[in-house]
Amino acid sequence: MRFLVTAGPTREALDPVRFLSNRSSGRMGYAVAEAAVRRGHAATLVSGPVSLVPPPGVRVVDVVSAEDMLAAVRREFGACEALVMAAAVADFRPVERSATKVKKSGAGLTLALERTPDILASLAPLKEGRIVVGFAAETGDPLAEARRKRRDKGADMIVANDVLAPDAGFEVETNRVTFVEENRVTALPLMSKLDVADHIVRWVEAAAQSRMSRPTP
Ligand code: PMT
Repeated sequence: MRFLVTAGPTREALDPVRFLSNRSSGRMGYAVAEAAVRRGHAATLVSGPVSLVPPPGVRVVDVVSAEDMLAAVRREFGACEALVMAAAVADFRPVERSATKVKKSGAGLTLALERTPDILASLAPLKEGRIVVGFAAETGDPLAEARRKRRDKGADMIVANDVLAPDAGFEVETNRVTFVEENRVTALPLMSKLDVADHIVRWVEAAAQSRMSRPTP
């Protein structure tokens, strides 16, 4: 299969030297691309700014902002059979980007922010037979939010992770995730991100297999 995987944060520029971003290291998404290649698939990684070495055999498309990531994913989507969105896309960006460094004048600064495009949700109408997996980075009730995101964003499965746990979520080498499907919830124990990635790739393979063996109406 051809996997399209997103990884890392996006950066939303405020001026030429400052941006809004988040703590994503890219490890989870890079692990998914690596696991896909290890299992004999092709993988393209659309990566926000991270300091990781790309896994061997993975094609990397570098992006910076949510808008760039949207354009790259839309360009690559037609050529994939499975999309795994592990990137932590910034949800907000400054309404205005100053062409010069914003000066330190006055006591403070109020930023006007606007929503970035929701990449995953925007692909739902273009999905056709593709398998689409999203993530949910949660700090509250991971299950309820993951169920809502799966429905609202048109994903086949959401990988929920509690990003407040010290050994899961952002930056660390391990993760503890729950697969949330339409009619099934599967909690996995704590494991390395590469092992989580391997479970995700196998889940995608099984979903593709069951689609192929479904009788045509
Ligand atoms: O990179 P690491 O340090 O290894 O950390 C891994 C991780 C915590 C970043 C990863 O496991 C994870 O949870 N990634 C998704 C983070 C996130 O943005 O979650 P969310 O609940 O805000 O978004 C839900 C889904 O919508 C995600 O698949 C996200 O990629 C997608 N999204 C979100 C916002 C947006 N504007 N467009 C999107 O497509």
